[in-house]
Amino acid sequence: MTAREKRLGMCGDRRSKEHFDSEYEEPDPWPFFTSPYEQTKYRRQIELVKELGVKPAKVLEIGCAEGAHTKMLAEAFPDSVVVAIDVSSRAIERARQNLAPYANVSLHGLDVMDFVGTTPDEEFDLIIWSEVIYYLADRLTPRDLLQFLERLAAKLRNDGVLCMANIINQPDADETPITRKPLMDCYYSLICCLLEPVHRLSYFDHKPESGRTYLYEVWTFRRAFQDDERGK
Ligand SMILES: C[S@@+](CC[C@H](N)C(=O)[O-])C[C@H]1O[C@@H](n2cnc3c(N)ncnc32)[C@H](O)[C@@H]1O
Repeated sequence: MTAREKRLGMCGDRRSKEHFDSEYEEPDPWPFFTSPYEQTKYRRQIELVKELGVKPAKVLEIGCAEGAHTKMLAEAFPDSVVVAIDVSSRAIERARQNLAPYANVSLHGLDVMDFVGTTPDEEFDLIIWSEVIYYLADRLTPRDLLQFLERLAAKLRNDGVLCMANIINQPDADETPITRKPLMDCYYSLICCLLEPVHRLSYFDHKPESGRTYLYEVWTFRRAFQDDERGK
């Protein structure tokens, strides 16, 4: 067991704020800012969203880490306000330093479940929610997950877009059991009950930093109001 694994093993709940704070003991642990794999994954999401014609006034990024994807979003949509949250206050502190030059970004150390529960009236044109659902879903019953997803979907304005990238069957990691394809298929199906699916695209990309090739999917969904919902 490595020192890092021992440290993480002492954190109790492996999906808690403490767990994620311990992941960020060193800066950019994955590394989101410098890895071509991660940068390509972010770029693909932004390109798909742009192809859909979304010109967001307000963007929400859930699980923004130290702000690598946030920076791209702030540059891709300079006229938008980008609200970015992460459960790890340590990650958010670094994101604040990394994104200091970007006046259109607002960063918050928050669990997305609290954010969604406490800001019922805040709405977004675009929600980016990548590589986070499996940590959350691991803590929730199916009923609670559905309720959370309903609240999240309600945060999209009419024609708003939710974009997600999710690794599938991550090899040899804490995430292996929580990223299994049947689970990911269940999350996808649940979201399809709430929002209109637009893309489900698969990518196999090599990450030189780990020497592995990973499969991930990018999903996009649109919120299309029913007629009787309009104006609510
Ligand atoms: C694997 S990283 C993904 C980072 C980035 N979104 C990406 O796609 O590369 C997961 C991030 O989600 C954050 N996270 C996990 N659970 C969360 C929650 N309940 N609310 C907010 N952020 C959470 C973690 O702290 C971590 O920064």
